[in-house]
Amino acid sequence: MSMEPPPATDAGHRPSLRSSLLSNWVSLGGLVVASGSLFSFLLLFALDALAPSGNPYIGVLAYLISPAFLILGFGLMGFGLVLIRRQRRRLAVTTRQPLLLVDLSRPRDRRNLLILITLGACFLLLTAIGSYRSYHFTESVTFCGQACHQVMKPEHTTYLHSPHARVSCSECHIGPGATWYVKAKISGLYQVYATLFDKYPRPIRTPISNLRPAQETCERCHWPQKFVGNLDRTYAHYLTDRTNTSYSVRLLLKVGGGDPTHGPVSGIHWHMSVANKVEYIATDAQHQVIPWVRMTNPQGVVTEYRTKEFTNDPAKLVIRTMDCMDCHNRPSHIFQTPNEAVDLALQLGRLDTNLAFIKKEAVAVLTQPYSTEEVALQGIATTLHSKYSAVPPSELEATIAVVQQIYTNNFFPEMKADWRVYPRNIGHKDWAGCFRCHDGQHKSADGKQAINANDCKSCHVILAERRGAELEQVGPQGLQFKHPEEGWEGMKCSDCHTGGN
Ligand code: HEC
Ligand code: HEC
Ligand code: HEC
Ligand code: HEC
Ligand code: HEC
Ligand code: HEC
Repeated sequence: MSMEPPPATDAGHRPSLRSSLLSNWVSLGGLVVASGSLFSFLLLFALDALAPSGNPYIGVLAYLISPAFLILGFGLMGFGLVLIRRQRRRLAVTTRQPLLLVDLSRPRDRRNLLILITLGACFLLLTAIGSYRSYHFTESVTFCGQACHQVMKPEHTTYLHSPHARVSCSECHIGPGATWYVKAKISGLYQVYATLFDKYPRPIRTPISNLRPAQETCERCHWPQKFVGNLDRTYAHYLTDRTNTSYSVRLLLKVGGGDPTHGPVSGIHWHMSVANKVEYIATDAQHQVIPWVRMTNPQGVVTEYRTKEFTNDPAKLVIRTMDCMDCHNRPSHIFQTPNEAVDLALQLGRLDTNLAFIKKEAVAVLTQPYSTEEVALQGIATTLHSKYSAVPPSELEATIAVVQQIYTNNFFPEMKADWRVYPRNIGHKDWAGCFRCHDGQHKSADGKQAINANDCKSCHVILAERRGAELEQVGPQGLQFKHPEEGWEGMKCSDCHTGGN
């Protein structure tokens, strides 16, 4: 605003800001867009504040789309003003006039200025609230998990059934600090593009390259020094025979701890001790094949372990340092294997163990390839009806519903996402997991020392196993593992167990 004295020919000749704005189409369009989006923002804001369910689309509209249009509107208004000013200059080169002229001695100018300031202040306030809400919104589970519904459905659904269902996506995927927020939004922009133009991979590949290190996410809530000690866990299973024979294992997991001031450095969390460093080389993208491991102990003694096949020079490959995520790689997106999910349903009595071969049939029908969820749910119903044609259909309905629910919670054919593509590294039954290193094949250079393995008691003791009365008898010394079938020894469990058989 320039404060030049008014020229003598003021009234009538000089166009006011309002008339400048109204006399060109571009600005007028901008004004309409801006006021429209402001109005829609207010409306959506009210809706969002009042609607308890928090529909994700309202959020996207209110905090992303309408502010974008508001800015566009203002841009257009400004652009129109510049245009008309140029045009007027060209028409009347001689009478150079300032675009806007304010004379505080005139009541009209004082009033206009006051209105302008009030409107400006209101606008700024609204923008402030709006952008604050936008910030929170883009950090929310709704935005991450539901806004691009189809793409994130597998991760969102599995997350809702995980121990971290109350931890927001951004706590693990972004963490604190502006740098990562901006990084995440920049990669987010690409993701929006990929979603809109259908360019995203199916399934979404892991490990995600821009995941923040565990030290900056997990360890903000989980104190790595904590001494966990022993955990008592029971793994309930059922065989694929006619009677769905139950087969459980009760383990005392020696999780221990990695910090000498809070308990002996021992057990599985020995890996987390700051004093020990374990590094490794993985030859595949998902870190399932680990032929080389290097350990540095508290005294600084370095031991290299490698498998016979690995003859490369480690210095030429990417060496990673082990952290929480190398074991807990699925803390939140836990795609249950069909085996696990059916076992759980049987254990809870949701599936009836008296139904002949139900373990086998349920797993079989779940592992079939289906093109969409709808086709799958239909297929499950049809197959089970035909397999159990002797059972009255009304009695079969509940069974079918349970199997369908297992499917909905763990299988996402549209995204090609299920347990098969997302290995879980904790344990060793269905994936190599711990046995990627603890398989007795990783030897030191002199060939004498191997990463401790196949000693079934180093990580856990079997307290009880099998079923019924036998499962009640606890053996504190640890029992011998009684595998249901012969011929398993000396192999990796995952050579036979895939989670779907
Ligand atoms: C407890 C921490 C945690 C939370 C909470 C979390 N994630 Fe993840 N997420 C991870 C980890 C760790 C990985 C990487 C897994 C890997 O590399 O194998 C991952 C992977 C992913 C992937 C890649 C595909 C896949 O399944 O591996 C997507 C997409 C994803 N998360 C989205 C989300 C969304 C959306 C939410 C919220 C609804 C969320 N995450 C909440 C930890 C978390
Ligand atoms: C914002 C805090 C927060 C973050 C970040 C977080 N967690 Fe957790 N985590 C929790 C809480 C809370 C629980 C306990 C849930 C319960 O017991 O109800 C938990 C539970 C766990 C458990 C035990 C699960 C079980 O089966 O009981 C593991 C393992 C775990 N978290 C690993 C991780 C890993 C790995 C990461 C990083 C990828 C991570 N957490 C990030 C808060 C967090
Ligand atoms: C060598 C593999 C390994 C590493 C590395 C590891 N953990 Fe664990 N952790 C385990 C196993 C195995 C358990 C037993 C529970 C289970 O099977 O889920 C466990 C249990 C836990 C639990 C549950 C404890 C409870 O009381 O229920 C938490 C929390 C946890 N780990 C957090 C972490 C964090 C945080 C890190 C990284 C600083 C980490 N872990 C690193 C293997 C590991
Ligand atoms: C990247 C390779 C690697 C992976 C994966 C791995 N470990 Fe280890 N682990 C090691 C190395 C190396 C040592 C040290 C070997 C030694 O001292 O002989 C070790 C030692 C141990 C020890 C002995 C600690 C002590 O008190 O001396 C336990 C227990 C253990 N690991 C459990 C696990 C469990 C459980 C898993 C899977 C959840 C696992 N490890 C996954 C490399 C690995
Ligand atoms: C390097 C450590 C380690 C060694 C060695 C080890 N285990 Fe395990 N085992 C684990 C962990 C960790 C789990 C828990 C996995 C989980 O929580 O999902 C487990 C789970 C199991 C389970 C229950 C799996 C299920 O889903 O029902 C059985 C059975 C088992 N182990 C048997 C054995 C036998 C037999 C051996 C010896 C050949 C052995 N383990 C050696 C770490 C180990
Ligand atoms: C040579 C192949 C083979 C190997 C190796 C093997 N298993 Fe099995 N396992 C089987 C078969 C076959 C069954 C019976 C499946 C059925 O009837 O459902 C079975 C059943 C089981 C069961 C009970 C039922 C179920 O489906 O969970 C457990 C638990 C089990 N195995 C654990 C292990 C563990 C832990 C290891 C590694 C230490 C292992 N197995 C190695 C073939 C194998």
